[in-house]
This record gives sequence, structure tokens and C-alpha cells, in this order.
Amino acid sequence: MKLQIFKDHQTIQQFCKRYKQQGQSIAFVPTMGNLHEGHLALVAKAKQSADIVIVSLYVNPMQFGANEDFNTYPRTLESDISKLTTLAVEGIFLPSAEQIYPNGIDQHTSIHTTLDSLYCGKSRPQFFSGIATIVTYFFNLITPDMVLFGEKDFQQLCVVKKIVRDLVFPIEVIGVETSREPNGLACSSRNQYLTSENQESASALYRILIGLKKDLIAGQKSFTVLEKLGWNQLIECNFTPDYLNIVSQKTLQPPTSKDTSLIILVACLFKQVRLIDNIKVELLTS
Ligand code: PAF
Repeated sequence: MKLQIFKDHQTIQQFCKRYKQQGQSIAFVPTMGNLHEGHLALVAKAKQSADIVIVSLYVNPMQFGANEDFNTYPRTLESDISKLTTLAVEGIFLPSAEQIYPNGIDQHTSIHTTLDSLYCGKSRPQFFSGIATIVTYFFNLITPDMVLFGEKDFQQLCVVKKIVRDLVFPIEVIGVETSREPNGLACSSRNQYLTSENQESASALYRILIGLKKDLIAGQKSFTVLEKLGWNQLIECNFTPDYLNIVSQKTLQPPTSKDTSLIILVACLFKQVRLIDNIKVELLTS
């Protein structure tokens, strides 16, 4: 099927409806464009999993704070379309802000989740309601059977899983492992705000996480001690930490004695650029 680009509600809705009526499955990959290896891995997985793959390219203003990088966020439409053409996706959704927020963001209904005020939500209070609102809008319009998100944004993945469960969307949410540069730095559109030398230094973030994971598995230090250790290591490597927490993968809350599937979540600034990353840790049950 030839790639189709949709710019308004009606055409994408008709397209999705037609293929669903024919019994075809739809996988959806929401993105803000500026596609990197991480996005391409999501699209590749989507292609394996469904008949029709739709990718949205939309920098959603609702999830940016007043002093954040909405205006400067990298927009690379031509190269994004060419990458998606190579991957043979069936549809690209390219809406305008007027389509989505006809009366402006302040007048728009927004969705809040109980994970809004934790971790990234603490320093970016508008962030998760902006995400929850836009993905709910996309889900209603596209009616995908499955939706794919990267695990780098683990809290976002949890927020989406919660929306799907709480609002009973018949959608399977698939988390895809974080793609990394050869030096370990998690792929992110914001990496390009850093020079290549600084990207190399920023890769220390992942090494710190690997070290903490080893210590967690060794089981000789408490969570609090390890969180403090990680925090100090971040500072030593010239990061400005926002948070570093060892939490349960399921609840995102501090682990109870029964939790064995943990995750270390981290966000920090490096040369003024906000980086987030995480590492999963499975504790052996005795
Ligand atoms: O992860 C992103 O790129 C965005 O938060 C998303 C899910 C496309 C919503 O705007």
C-alpha cells in the first residue's frame, strides 16, 4: 500500500474505519517527529505486529511548560517522512494545532492521571496531562489495536497503560526496549542539543545505572543508601540530578518487601539539557 499522509480528523478516521471493517489490525506509534533509532525500532516492531501501521508526527504544545523547548524542539519533517517511507508504514498523521486545539490549549479538556505529580511530573507539572490528553485524542481517532511506546520514557509508558486500563480502551500497550548509542547513551531527540563530546560524557549516566543495578542485585546496601550513592555519582560526573529513585516497575512507588521487579528511574540536567533514563532490575526471590 502506498504511504498516505493525513492532515485532518476526517480523512484519518475514514481510513482507519475502512481497514478495521475489513478486519485489518492497526498498530499506532505516536511521536513528536525528529525520528531516531528508538522510534524506528518502535515502527519496525509495529510492522511485525499489525497489518496497518500509523505514525503520528506532532509536537504537542500541551505537554510543554512555558519555559521549555516547544519552539526550538527539532522539527525534521522531510527526513522523517523519508525514513517512514523506507519502513513502508501505511499512514502518517500530521495534524495542526488548530485541528487538535481549535479553541486553544487553555480551553481544551485535559486528562489527569494519578502519576501526574511524581518524578518527571514534579518538575514538569503540565507534562503528563498533556501526554494523557493527546494520546486519548489519538486513540479515539485512530482506534488502534495496539500502541507502541519506548521504555526510556517509562513513566509515560505507565501513564498510558493506566489510561488504557482506567478508560477501558481496547488497546494493547507494547513497551519496547530503549535503543542506545554504542556508548550507552539512550537515544533521544534532545541528545542533539549536546555536542558529540558532551554526548560522550553524558553516556556516564547509563554506566552509573549499571553500577547501581549490580549493587542492588548484590543486596548489601539499602535502597536509600543506593539512591544517595547514585545521586553523588551523578554530581561527580557533572550532572544536575532532578530525581533518582528505586521503585517498583508495577506501581512506580517505593518497593515493598514483596516487589522483585524494580526499576531505577533517573532524570538530570547535563549542560542544561534534560536527560532521562532507567534500568530494570529483577531481584532473585529466595
Ligand atoms: O513520547 C513522545 O514523543 C510524546 O510524549 C508523545 C507520546 C508522542 C505524545 O506527544
